Amino acid sequence: MKKMWRLFSVLMVATLLIGMLAACSGATGGSSSVSVGIVLPTKDEPRWVQDEQRFKDALADSEYTTEILFSQGSSAKEKENVETLLNKGIDVLIIAPHDGAAAGSAVEAAKKEGVTVIAYDRLITETDAVDYYVTFDSVAVGAAQGQYLIDNVEGSNVPLYLYAGASSDNNAFLFFQGAWEVLQPKIADGTFVIANSSEAVALKDKNELTRDELGKILGQVTTNWDPSEAINKAQTHLTAAGANLKGDIAILAPNDGTARSIADVYGSDSDISSYVISGQDAEKASIQYIIDGKQSMTVFKDVRTLVADAIGMAIDILDGKTPSTTGSYNNGKVDVKAKQTNVIVVDQENVKKELIDSGYYEASEFTGL
Ligand code: BGC
Repeated sequence: MKKMWRLFSVLMVATLLIGMLAACSGATGGSSSVSVGIVLPTKDEPRWVQDEQRFKDALADSEYTTEILFSQGSSAKEKENVETLLNKGIDVLIIAPHDGAAAGSAVEAAKKEGVTVIAYDRLITETDAVDYYVTFDSVAVGAAQGQYLIDNVEGSNVPLYLYAGASSDNNAFLFFQGAWEVLQPKIADGTFVIANSSEAVALKDKNELTRDELGKILGQVTTNWDPSEAINKAQTHLTAAGANLKGDIAILAPNDGTARSIADVYGSDSDISSYVISGQDAEKASIQYIIDGKQSMTVFKDVRTLVADAIGMAIDILDGKTPSTTGSYNNGKVDVKAKQTNVIVVDQENVKKELIDSGYYEASEFTGL
């Protein structure tokens, strides 16, 4: 009986010890502690999968622990991701929001924990809980798209089909604004006729649109960054178009994913003799479309630079230094200090130089180069 009792006591002490150890590692975060948390909007678009890869490449030899989570197009999932990272003890959060305004509550939770917040590529709006913003020059992206259409059409009364990104993404406004400011004088002088937006027609004499005015046009021509929605809209627009809105046309497509979908729709209509179509992101599939003559251009945003800027900022913050910035963006509530990167227009002429010779992609990833 005495023996049994001793065995029982030993077992009790062992169980207690194991319990205490487990609680300890939970409280300190143990090996799961992370210094920089990265949250990206969705894995469904190659653009963001590429950002993940570029982050991994850049962080391969880093002494800092990082973790990347995807929000899959859901603000609720995004908030959950931020909370997961906060529980892992992050000091810096790098976040590309799914919805710029809805992300406010996630970053406010991070700020409450003393975390420094860096908005990545997309601005987080209507909150003071964002410290820095790393971005491409998004107005310049739109201007480059619009200018390409202008430079590559001939004659006058060229039907112009307008498409835009999601209204929940501040960038969609900046891209459209940049494009509109160069296209509008060419609409006013009769080079283009707007084919698919009564709101844009109503504003055709105005060059600088307010956010509300831009919002009205976006409301009609948004793709929501969704290739399927882009296809549906393009089909509807083509069905409604009379013969005077076919022939040789121009299409403002906001990014590569939607450009390929829209190009497929217009390209399969026998009454469309030719089209010029814009894009952005230099996605591999669109580079192949450009080589094949199915997409006219893309705006190359070198994600390596954006990643390097975001990580550089994070490391400065972890080292107690103030990151360097080049300007600021107003997010509706505060001016957010920003670092901005330039973009490059790519078409058949320079695709090899900019994307292959520069080491961004391998020639073997494409056919017919
Ligand atoms: C990004 C683009 C991207 C789009 C859709 C924008 O905020 O700047 O590169 O194509 O979102 O994901």
